[in-house]
Amino acid sequence: MAQHNITISRAGFTSAFGVLAATLGSAVGLGNIWKFPYLTGANGGAGFLLVYVLATLLVGLPVMIAEITLGRQAKANPITALQALAPKRQPWWLIGAAGMVAAFLILSFYSEVVAWVFAYVVKALRGTILSSDRQVTEAAFSALISDPLQSLLWQWGVLVFIGGILLLGVTKGIEALTKKLMPLLFLLLLLLCAVSLSLDKAAQGLAFLFNPDFSKITASVVLTAMGLAFFKLSIGMGTMMTYGSYFRDDQNIPKTTLQVMSADLCVSMLAGIAIFPAVFTFGFAPAAGPALVFITIPAVFSQIPMGQALMVAFFVLAAVAATGAMLSLMEVPVVIFHERLGLSRPKATLLTIFLLAILGSGCALSNSTLADFKLFGLNLFDLFDFVSSNIILPADGIFIALFIGWVWGIDNFRSAVSNRGQLHNRSLSQGVFFLLRYVSPLLILLVMLKGLKLF
Ligand code: PHE
Repeated sequence: MAQHNITISRAGFTSAFGVLAATLGSAVGLGNIWKFPYLTGANGGAGFLLVYVLATLLVGLPVMIAEITLGRQAKANPITALQALAPKRQPWWLIGAAGMVAAFLILSFYSEVVAWVFAYVVKALRGTILSSDRQVTEAAFSALISDPLQSLLWQWGVLVFIGGILLLGVTKGIEALTKKLMPLLFLLLLLLCAVSLSLDKAAQGLAFLFNPDFSKITASVVLTAMGLAFFKLSIGMGTMMTYGSYFRDDQNIPKTTLQVMSADLCVSMLAGIAIFPAVFTFGFAPAAGPALVFITIPAVFSQIPMGQALMVAFFVLAAVAATGAMLSLMEVPVVIFHERLGLSRPKATLLTIFLLAILGSGCALSNSTLADFKLFGLNLFDLFDFVSSNIILPADGIFIALFIGWVWGIDNFRSAVSNRGQLHNRSLSQGVFFLLRYVSPLLILLVMLKGLKLF
């Protein structure tokens, strides 16, 4: 069967811009709009942001280059790719297997947040949440998440929707649509920033976001920031390796990676600037947790003419961004089931959706029926998030870095990154290789040991 698997023909990205757009479509999602602001708020603001940016540069960037390079080299799913590139009988393919586990954990809670976004499109249409009154927006959000039936139905709706896109084979169409709509999301975020910056306590919000209080940077804050860097760039779980396998051979990997990283950081910053001035002006708690964006955004829109229509547009665009990211997450298990188990793509998709409907409902019910069900002091939603972002993604990152640095080696890496010598980026690939061989694995390991209090 292995023979057969490798010969399955793979569709690739056709243009350089298509590659950039698809990779960006995976990176930009609810991580920017929902997770980044809530984690920044919960972890003390500017200090967290600083560590997050450092983690993105020192660890995220090299690991992302590494993953895409390995994927393109092997042109296969993460498990097969690592089997093909590693010496016989060395179990590096476990990186791919762990990534698939992470994909399921992330999808389980991510699909629930996408569900909230979909539900908010409807709420925004009805006009009931457009208010700067804390109590109104907070009550609307908790009414949604504490209702088990609504939480479940919205999540399953999302799964059927995404599954439908995959089954109908219209993923390419959706990607084209995402490409067209993302500039609009960007514009809307700019508008939100302008509104937010004109609010009374804008200065306080900006100080929270940009003026670091170093006393708030603890080991667990550093781990959370690093986990966010992995999550944001969709690395450490096989997505970028899978996308790399669709990259063209003449694509400039470091350049594409840098562009994606910069654009992604930019969108996150805009979301932060849109949210925090409003948080302080309207008296929300910066540490409100996963609710933060959902309770704050309506307050910002309540301040402008046509706020309701624009808020509908915002949640629709957020749903589009989230759909792009979710499609890329699903690609990992779907391709693995397809290429490894020999299932047809539709069957692989159905199996993935089915498993997610079961696993995900644990997250959907985390604020209602299963609120008291805790493992290690966390409900399932928070546990899946913690285990994926703070354990599996960074651990996978360590092994990807070690694999390139100590097994695959400088010659293979340099040749692959330079497109067999066509690009003149020798010192760049040497620098990245040095980071991968020594810096990234040690740094990730230290942060993990400290953050998990194992050291
Ligand atoms: N990077 C995506 C986001 O920010 C989430 C994601 C994580 C997507 C891992 C794919 C893989 O929303």
